[in-house]
Amino acid sequence: MSNSDRVVLALGGGGTVGSGIVKALLDRGFRVVVISRDSNKLEKLKGFISPSNRGNLVTLEGDVGSEVGAELVKQAVVKAVGKVTDIVSSLGFSWWQGGPPHTQTVKELHWVLETLVLSTFVSWKAFFPLVRDNPSGTYTLITGGAGDKLLMPGTGFLTVGAASALAFCQILREEYPEVPCKLNQVKINAGVAAPDRMGPGYLNHLDLGEAVAALVERRNSSHNVFTVNCPSDLKTILLEDNV
Ligand SMILES: NC(=O)c1ccc[n+]([C@@H]2O[C@H](COP(=O)([O-])OP(=O)(O)OC[C@H]3O[C@@H](n4cnc5c(N)ncnc54)[C@H](OP(=O)(O)O)[C@@H]3O)[C@@H](O)[C@H]2O)c1
Repeated sequence: MSNSDRVVLALGGGGTVGSGIVKALLDRGFRVVVISRDSNKLEKLKGFISPSNRGNLVTLEGDVGSEVGAELVKQAVVKAVGKVTDIVSSLGFSWWQGGPPHTQTVKELHWVLETLVLSTFVSWKAFFPLVRDNPSGTYTLITGGAGDKLLMPGTGFLTVGAASALAFCQILREEYPEVPCKLNQVKINAGVAAPDRMGPGYLNHLDLGEAVAALVERRNSSHNVFTVNCPSDLKTILLEDNV
């Protein structure tokens, strides 16, 4: 099956990480469907991708963080494109530094968990059945290294949310060891930004996108965690069949 016959559902595809992935997938000839709650982000994304690829991008407004919302999005996606062959999930937010726990509220922790892990779970539950039994299909989850440690003072809830997302990916690997579709995780232990917003040690979202698109295209591994600490790790993913 060529890339032009494959349809990738990019959850979080309007975000910093997701937009780099969407651009790279389109550049490789995939059709891509992006969901966002914000129509402005979808318009911005259309302006960001290569103009010649616009015909291969389908954008839909929707909320995949609630069971009802995810079901509605699923129906809309199937109606718009028919079959989905691959899914990349980069849901969440870029950064959180609200302060140490004693200054925080339960409401804030709810928001962090909802955005980082509940949306990942709810959307996985809704969309995984679209690709699960397809040996040529893939499901790739993007996670962050903030789950391993406190990145800096005041970022504690980011660690709680990111750690929950890491744990969720681990249980997927262990609960579904034999699933036909390729189930992988890309764990990013660095900041990610667009070229004009890069900080020290950051990864360019375009370079990250190319590496993730290469993994999706190759679909030769499953149940792997691809750990990315620095730009050279992205080159390794691009060049090697197995990391
Ligand atoms: N940025 C970094 O430095 C970095 C570093 C390491 C790992 N990561 C990982 O990458 C993931 C994404 O980060 P990012 O920087 O791309 O964040 P971002 O720019 O805020 O993008 C996250 C995307 O998730 C979407 N989203 C969240 N909840 C949703 C929902 N209920 N329904 C539909 N869409 C929803 C948002 O869509 P809308 O708001 O448009 O609806 C947004 O486009 C993070 O969770 C993190 O684990 C990021």
